[in-house]
Amino acid sequence: MAAFPSSLALFFLFLTFTEAKEILVGGKTDAWKIPSSESDSLNKWAEKARFRLGDSLVWKYDGGKDSVLQVTKTAYLSCNTSNPLAEYKDGDTKVRLQKSGPYFFISGAKGHCEQGQKVIVVVLSQKHGNIGISPAPSPADFEGPAIAPMSGGAGLKAGLLLRFDWILISILFICS
Ligand SMILES: *[C@@H]1O[C@H](CO)[C@@H](O)[C@H](O)[C@H]1NC(C)=O
Repeated sequence: MAAFPSSLALFFLFLTFTEAKEILVGGKTDAWKIPSSESDSLNKWAEKARFRLGDSLVWKYDGGKDSVLQVTKTAYLSCNTSNPLAEYKDGDTKVRLQKSGPYFFISGAKGHCEQGQKVIVVVLSQKHGNIGISPAPSPADFEGPAIAPMSGGAGLKAGLLLRFDWILISILFICS
């Protein structure tokens, strides 16, 4: 009888390790815009999120007014939009994360990157534990100046949601 819950737990564990996710950048559809404050920035969101190989980033925005540029670190830091590694302006952009390491994205709309519409996504290598016990590299590690400590509840809520699959596994193991 006890075999059922533990195989269920293993099944969920398996899903957690293998299931590629589509991750909406900023956590909501209208998030690709100039942040209203530092604590609202996309890098605050990215610090709390967890990106794995095979996941896809998704942006929803008005393709007539904005775009997503994947750029080098240098171009990210200087908001240089002139020669991006990749440019997306269809309003419904999906980028698959196929290698580990940092990815740099900035807005292609004039002046937007300078006002903070940019994000660094760090994809962990598979050697790192995926279950989130060891500290993961955060966008701050790749950003020049230090960023103020996080405040406000929005990031915390996002973090809790992202921990949901981990909590579910813990519960299943305890119950089995
Ligand atoms: C922006 O990048 C391009 C190509 O990488 C380079 O030629 C140009 O000098 C850069 N502009 C600035 C202002 O750094």
